[in-house]
Parts: sequence; structure tokens; C-alpha cells
Amino acid sequence: MKEVKRVAVIPGDGTGPEVIGEGLKVIKAVLPSCSCDIEFKHFDFGGERYMRTGETLPEGAIEELKTFDAIYLGAIGHPDIKPGILEKGILLKLRFELDQYINLRPVRLFPGVETPLKGKGPEDIDYTVVRENSGDVYTGMGGAMMVGTPDEVATQVMAYSRKQVDRCLRYAFEYARKYGKAARGKADKSKLALVGKSNVLTYVFDMWNRAFAEIGEEYPDIKREYYHVDATTLYQVASPEMFDVVVTTNLFGDIITDLAAITQGGLGVAAGGNLNPEGVSMFEPIGGTAPMWTGQNKINPLAAIWSGAMLLQSLGEEKAGDAIVEAIGDTTPKMKSMAAGQMGYSTTEVGDLVAQSALKRLS
Ligand code: IPM
Ligand code: MN
Repeated sequence: MKEVKRVAVIPGDGTGPEVIGEGLKVIKAVLPSCSCDIEFKHFDFGGERYMRTGETLPEGAIEELKTFDAIYLGAIGHPDIKPGILEKGILLKLRFELDQYINLRPVRLFPGVETPLKGKGPEDIDYTVVRENSGDVYTGMGGAMMVGTPDEVATQVMAYSRKQVDRCLRYAFEYARKYGKAARGKADKSKLALVGKSNVLTYVFDMWNRAFAEIGEEYPDIKREYYHVDATTLYQVASPEMFDVVVTTNLFGDIITDLAAITQGGLGVAAGGNLNPEGVSMFEPIGGTAPMWTGQNKINPLAAIWSGAMLLQSLGEEKAGDAIVEAIGDTTPKMKSMAAGQMGYSTTEVGDLVAQSALKRLS
């Protein structure tokens, strides 16, 4: 008998259920090759539920989710709900309550995928962003006074504890050691680049830089680099091949991973994982709910499928997870475009192609 792992599925709103459906299809297809079995339990959290019940996450939801081995999330959002309510009430709440302190966002241009970067190919666009996921302006520290008057003041603080910094950096160094370009035979030495703004945010990045140097001493096999975030965006466009593993703060990571996403073919192919390496992690495509494409079987499911592969990897099923990632690379050359409605295939057909290819790779 195989060990049974439990995965909570939150398909969410808009095209979330369609892309998660394809991700589940692919995961289920490779399950016979896994050393565990997976039991899935679906939850209806999201904008639709909020409109119906006025509740973002019901009582006990967090406690229940803590009992799972992983969470698979589609997308949360609703055009009729004020920005911030669902984000803070569901997505960020889950990230914080489950202390998912790493947001791992791989950036990889699959074969045949069009990139807006002239002259760049799959060998150039191949890096990973380790986005700190628990601190920064996302903590909500700050406030407002005299709102609505000419003297109104508003603050939102970039807050970091040394503990948060250390655990994030440690994860990034370990990741670079295990999956950096040297580990994959693509460089002599793997690199970890810290991205910050030490010329202006002097307190915060003084702490990050000191921790980076101190912890880095334990990783002589990893080359350390530092870049300001503004310069980073320029390099991501002009010379993405210089990056290997990048570690950065929460808000900067949010911004540079959207830029990274378009260089790898757009949000349809950008995957991510909110990780608590000691707890429950949650995997989600970076793209949103895409309301205009809902229910048409035209949205690109690859980001969700890739996130599903990351979920399997996190459960220790590296072989099956890797096979799915490579199967995505088998599928992209057959597709006309990564854009919704222009793929040359339907959502479900793309899911079928990846599933078939993953199975072939595992057989
Ligand atoms: C992301 C999103 C979220 C973030 C929003 C929806 C709160 O942009 O996952 O990148 O800012 O982290
Ligand atoms: Mn974002």
C-alpha cells in the first residue's frame, strides 16, 4: 500500500477552476509512477463564495488547511469586489497564517515560446526568483490619519526581522546549491544574487546585506552578487542570462516576477509556490482570474500544470514532477501562442498533450 498524502484544492474564481482541472488531470495521470497516493479535497473559497456569504475564509478553515500536505490554488478575484478584500482575506491570509515565507518563482523560457526579448532563447532565460513572502509592506504595518483632509498622512512600512531575513537567505543558498546552474551542469559555479535598494533603503538592506555575507560564508560553493532592484529590471530585459538564483524582498519580488513572467511567454506560463519548508505549502499559477476568458476552454493551463508539478516535487515526488515540467517543454513547440484563445488548442487539449507526454517520459 502506498502512503496517502492529502492535498487541499482551492480552484477559486474565473478561469481558476479550468486551469486547476487540467493540473489535476496531469497529476492524476502520473500518480501511478509516484511513491505516494494523493487524496484531494476541494474547497470553494473565493469571490463567488464571498458574494454569497460575506465570508472570505470561514471559521476553522486555516486550522483545517494546516492538516493537509499541500494546497493547490487556482486564482482568487471578482470584478465586483473592491480590491484588497479577497487578497487580504484569502490569499495573503493563507500565506501569513501558514507562514509560507518563501515564494518560489521559476523563470524559464520553454522551447518554441515567443519572448519579447530580441535575440534571447531558452538557454538565456533560465533563472529562479526566491521572493521573501512574509515581511515587507505586506505586513500591513502603518496607518493613516486625517483621512480625507488636506493634511492626510499615510504610511505603509517596509518591515523585516533578522529572523525573516535569515530563513529566507538560508533557503535561497540551499536552493542555489541544489538547483543552481552548477548543479544542473550549466555553469562552473552557481550564483545567488541579492536584489535590493541599499542606496536608499539603508536600514533594511544593511541588515539583508550583512546577513547575506554572514550566511554566505557557509556556502563557499555559491558566488554572491548584489544588484539594486531598478538595475535588475534593466538586466532582466537586456541580459537575463546573467541570473541564476535571485533572492529578494516581498514587494520587489512581486514586481520583478511579473517582468520575468512576460519574458517567459506571459502569465499563462508563470508558475509559483508559496512555501513553508517546515509546514504546509501552497502552489498557484501567478496569473489571475482572467474573467473575460472564463468558461470558454481557451485559457492557457500551463502555469497551473507547472505549479502542480512543483507541488509534486514538494511532496518528494521529484521524478514525476520533473517529468511534467519536461512534458510542458514537449508541448510548447506544438502550440501557436501562449496567449488565451490563440494557442491553436483548447485548455483541455493542452492538458491532454502534457499528460500524454509526461506519461511517455515516465514509461
Ligand atoms: C502575486 C499577487 C499578489 C501579491 C496580490 C494578488 C496580493 O500579485 O501573487 O504576485 O502581491 O503577492
Ligand atoms: Mn504579483
